[in-house]
Amino acid sequence: MSLHGIIPPHGGKLVNRVSGKAQPEPFSGSESSIVLMERQQCDLEMIAVGAMSPLTGFVGSKDYNSICDNLTLTCGAAWPFPITCSVDKGTADGLKIGDKIALLDDAKRLLGWLTLEEKYDHDKDKQAQSCFKTTETAHPGVKVLMEEGDVCLAGPIDVVCPRYDVDFKEHRLTPEQTRKAFADKGWKTVVGFQTRNPIHRAHEYLTKTALEICDGLLIHPLVGQTQPGDIPPDVRMNCYTTLIEKYYVADRTMLTVLPAAMRYGGPREAVMHAILRQNYGCSHFIVGRDHAGVGSYYGTYDAQEIFNTLPDGALSITTLNFEHSAWCKQCEGMTSSKTCPHGPQEKIFLSGTKVREMLAKGEKPPMEFSRPEVADILIASMKG
Ligand code: ADX
Repeated sequence: MSLHGIIPPHGGKLVNRVSGKAQPEPFSGSESSIVLMERQQCDLEMIAVGAMSPLTGFVGSKDYNSICDNLTLTCGAAWPFPITCSVDKGTADGLKIGDKIALLDDAKRLLGWLTLEEKYDHDKDKQAQSCFKTTETAHPGVKVLMEEGDVCLAGPIDVVCPRYDVDFKEHRLTPEQTRKAFADKGWKTVVGFQTRNPIHRAHEYLTKTALEICDGLLIHPLVGQTQPGDIPPDVRMNCYTTLIEKYYVADRTMLTVLPAAMRYGGPREAVMHAILRQNYGCSHFIVGRDHAGVGSYYGTYDAQEIFNTLPDGALSITTLNFEHSAWCKQCEGMTSSKTCPHGPQEKIFLSGTKVREMLAKGEKPPMEFSRPEVADILIASMKG
């Protein structure tokens, strides 16, 4: 479906791999079956609903190598992470090319089918080094990768139900649905905002500044697999809805969720996040400081610079880069080094650790850092 004025999907066509009927009972077929890991379940949903267009299934070895080596699929479209379905060698040995493999969730319910086209060795060290720039398992993305199987199974998927126990149902719009919603609102340019945190004043500044040059804003928090210690999605959703109601313009702002897994891959993940948002219909995408980073694995602006290395024509969405932003006491407002001449001593910078300590003690961070309504929700959630 092409909606007038809205950016085309990545690769040109919005994929839809959801067909057939959900089967909420445990699967009892005699065919080959595998239980997907949480990350694979998130990826399956992303492929099925078209968020990972043009992928129609789990990637084969040619795409795998092209992604690791060139940051593109073999068709030339930008692609940062191999989206794989891997199993241990023993399981792989029992599967034949052409098999239809049932893909199950943890409760053994049928999610869909993989038609096996290829089996190949999972070169995890190569993948970790090229995608995450490290093979250390202290990196949460590498840790999950290293827990995956040694053989990748490739082929198209046909999904009967992307997920059975669905959170945030009313906010879980598919790319087709967000595209339609944008068209209905008459938005042609839409800026997408990725986040895995509550929205603090810096995030608010980025989103509102970007909205000045776009018709609409899609606040699109990631609610799939994250690492232990991240703020749970239900608490964050409470923060987002409260904040949006009080501080954003209803006609210009939409809140829907991204049920993708977080890989903490910094620059490459920024490219993934941008592609996903293009498929949801966003023309622009915000990339701030240390986007999707973790620890000190990536430089502050690596996630902005990686877009300059993509081959011409490999990606259509426009990124909007933002410098590290903070409240300046002299300027009495949100600023960055691009807009404010004052030094760091004038800025209200708080580390994540410091904020967590304050909240755990029931103390609100200053209103220049976080809106009090958001702080109240976070304090209440920590009291449990
Ligand atoms: S992320 O893992 O989803 O990137 P987070 O939710 O903290 O983490 O950030 C969401 C977006 O806001 C990212 O683009 C990030 O770079 C940006 N960002 C967060 N804090 C700041 C800040 N103080 N200044 C500029 N950009 C920021």
